[in-house]
Amino acid sequence: MISVKSSTPSVLKTSIIKKVITGLTGLGLFIFIIFHLLGNLLLFNEDPAPYNKYSHTLVSLGWILIALELGLLAFFILHIIYAISIRLSGKKARPVGYYKLKSAGKPGRKTIASTNMLITGVVILVFTVLHLKTFKFGPEYKTVVDGIEMRDLHRLVVEVFQKPGYVIWYVAAMIFLGYHLSFGFWSAFQSLGIHHPRWTPALYTLGYVLAILLAAGYIGIPIWIYFMGGTQ
Ligand code: HEM
Repeated sequence: MISVKSSTPSVLKTSIIKKVITGLTGLGLFIFIIFHLLGNLLLFNEDPAPYNKYSHTLVSLGWILIALELGLLAFFILHIIYAISIRLSGKKARPVGYYKLKSAGKPGRKTIASTNMLITGVVILVFTVLHLKTFKFGPEYKTVVDGIEMRDLHRLVVEVFQKPGYVIWYVAAMIFLGYHLSFGFWSAFQSLGIHHPRWTPALYTLGYVLAILLAAGYIGIPIWIYFMGGTQ
């Protein structure tokens, strides 16, 4: 793990702390994205009951779910604030910008990567706000499973993904998410000071593979529902 010496200048200390917070919150959000996909894979089931039961079980957690949601929101906000702050302080430290320093006129790799992280991050932010409006705060259809009345979230998801506009938007947003995760995973470990000649390339590959699997899983859901019709 990272260690900050007492002789380290305070500007550098602040920058290290910002990076550690961005890395840790990013990894926390990554874990949420994995579990959220695992739950949503139930949409591939012909029977709507398992998906509705799964979502009902989460809702039944009551205050535990609310605490987890608040934690997730805090991670999301901290991640955005510190990522933007790192980017801005990087600009202040080098106001000319990397690309102007390159004789060939090509942007530096670091600048391209961080600009892409900013753009893909903004898309993910817009996506998440709209996503919550569509599903979490969307119509409250009801169903009865095993004698228990619960929200028919399955019906809502199937209804939404029968509209081509939503399917295209989800596929596009998930490609942006995949890019963000692929670079973000490796970058989080770098920010936590985890460098090793053997582990760093392995983490880079792992981040890439996980990002592709996650993006493919999320892309598969709207496409499958759109073309297979899902079950209502
Ligand atoms: C095809 C892809 C996806 C589907 C079908 C899907 C489905 C859903 C549904 C149905 C809900 C509402 C759950 C409820 O109210 O009980 C939800 C909540 C949520 N989704 Fe997704 N989701 C997808 C992708 C994503 C992605 C990629 C992200 C993150 C970037 C995301 C982030 C969230 C968040 C933060 C919540 C709120 C969780 C909570 O408050 O408990 N979702 N999703």
